[in-house]
Amino acid sequence: MTSNRNSIERDARVLQLYEQLIEIEQRLVPTGLHVFGRAAELQEKADLLRMVASFDRPEHGARSIPALVAKSLGVQSYEQLLQETPSSEVKELIDGIVSESIARFCDAGAAAAAQWLKDKSGVNVEQSLPTFSLLAVIAEQLDLNHEVESLMRALRGDYIAPGPGADIVQNPLVLPTGRNTHAVNPYSVPSHVAFERARQTADALLRRYVDEHGRYPRALALVLWGLDNIKTQGEGVAQALWLLGVRPVRDALNRATDVEVISLDELKRPRIDVVMTVSGIFRDLFAPTMTLLDKAVRRVAELEEPEGLNFVRRNISESRKGSALNFDDAVTRVFSNAPGNYGTNVNFMVLDSQWESAETLGDLFMTRKCFAYSRDSKGRTVEGREARPLMDDALSRVEATYQNLDSFEVGITDVDHYFEYLGGISKAVETITKSRPAIYVSDSLSPQTKVRSLEETVRLETRAKTLNPKWYEGMLKHGFRGVAEIENHVANTFGWSATADAVDPWIYTEISKTFLLDPVMFERLMELNPHSVSSLTKRLLEAHERGYWNPAEEVVESLHLILEDLGERKRAMGGSTS
Ligand code: BEZ
Ligand code: MG
Repeated sequence: MTSNRNSIERDARVLQLYEQLIEIEQRLVPTGLHVFGRAAELQEKADLLRMVASFDRPEHGARSIPALVAKSLGVQSYEQLLQETPSSEVKELIDGIVSESIARFCDAGAAAAAQWLKDKSGVNVEQSLPTFSLLAVIAEQLDLNHEVESLMRALRGDYIAPGPGADIVQNPLVLPTGRNTHAVNPYSVPSHVAFERARQTADALLRRYVDEHGRYPRALALVLWGLDNIKTQGEGVAQALWLLGVRPVRDALNRATDVEVISLDELKRPRIDVVMTVSGIFRDLFAPTMTLLDKAVRRVAELEEPEGLNFVRRNISESRKGSALNFDDAVTRVFSNAPGNYGTNVNFMVLDSQWESAETLGDLFMTRKCFAYSRDSKGRTVEGREARPLMDDALSRVEATYQNLDSFEVGITDVDHYFEYLGGISKAVETITKSRPAIYVSDSLSPQTKVRSLEETVRLETRAKTLNPKWYEGMLKHGFRGVAEIENHVANTFGWSATADAVDPWIYTEISKTFLLDPVMFERLMELNPHSVSSLTKRLLEAHERGYWNPAEEVVESLHLILEDLGERKRAMGGSTS
């Protein structure tokens, strides 16, 4: 009996490991920095094109190639296959055929690829050709690089043609590069497509929370960014609306200016309270959207519904019982920087190592982001009023924090903004509630909507990028800048320790082994960029000193020796010893 259970558990564990390997393998990894003015080689673009080809694009009359192959092989619902099983023989078979067809496309063009796909899997040429033809346009546009020319025009004060802002996978019309990015009409947000996608993502988020906690969260804190909502036409905004249980309504001019309540029967779950911290860029670009979000919360708060099914109502009534808050105060949920201000500064404090207790980081986040944007019961606009007690109150019931990732190109360790925002809000919640919230990140871009814990996302990014030879060798081709990028990734990883305690210690161990304790790699890095080697070493020692990582004594000693050695080399070269 026991041995039977053990073997079932072992099989489940092996399958889980296998799925994790597939997940890392399939991750789209940028293999180098973009060099201004230079186009990528066609072969290098194969991964990108495969990704572009895996979405239906009705606006281009193009179908998803994996979905076409699946259908031709007799799979009933490809979407369901993706949601249910991250890996399976059928899925591997489909992926293999798709990759091969893209390789054919790179070698011989659209018609040859469509014919090959027909011979291999029976997909009609007429069905796949529009997608391959779209890939041909994209491949050609990737070579049309106007960057240097446009820069020269900009310097002369000439006109530069505009193009939409997104990444290539989301919207191939961003090509060619070297154009001005135009924003979206804020009244068009969220689009119908964004709302549909948001439902799936937000449902996956709630499923994940319920699986882990056995009930729905009392309130969620969401991070909304401006550029991301341009790129996704408001997926983050739509997720907030769907969590509240409302949908956008368009007026006679087709502007999303109101919301309609979705009945509890249709929703089949409680309405979730959401606290939204929006970036300064979002505030500047999406003023009507902030009004829409505020309106949505107020509408939900006013519904005559049982508090057990309407968490906004329950939280407001709880908060007013214990305080002198009026309705307008208690319903405030949209916060940003003070007018004219941007950012949280949490990233600067972390990267400059200028904090003693972690609570200071949560406190700094609050100080920067506690400005309320709303419209009160009398219709008066509140535009960036300092409202720290209101934000404290709203966050005091938050049990999970969340941000929607919008891009294949930029992940949570590529830039310091993810940890300053999602890490910052999480630390603020922890500071207020004395309990660390569950922290989630979604990858709403892949055809299979995936919600991961922050810890899982840090592991995935580390394995797919920082510790992946394909990624760091790509970086090292860029010499000095490449080493700086590796060091940046480690610093941003450290940011997730500082703000959210989300980094497994093995990650620091493997980073040390890969970049500093391997003599050959160490000398390569030293040759290219000793400054970044020094920062990297100091960062790892700081991770140890702050208790994020407790390595073997020899490792600590080796890192100290590296710093000494660096100092000596610098002195030998006549530099300062700082
Ligand atoms: C934004 O698009 O809102 C944003 C961009 C970079 C950093 C932070 C926010
Ligand atoms: Mg982004």
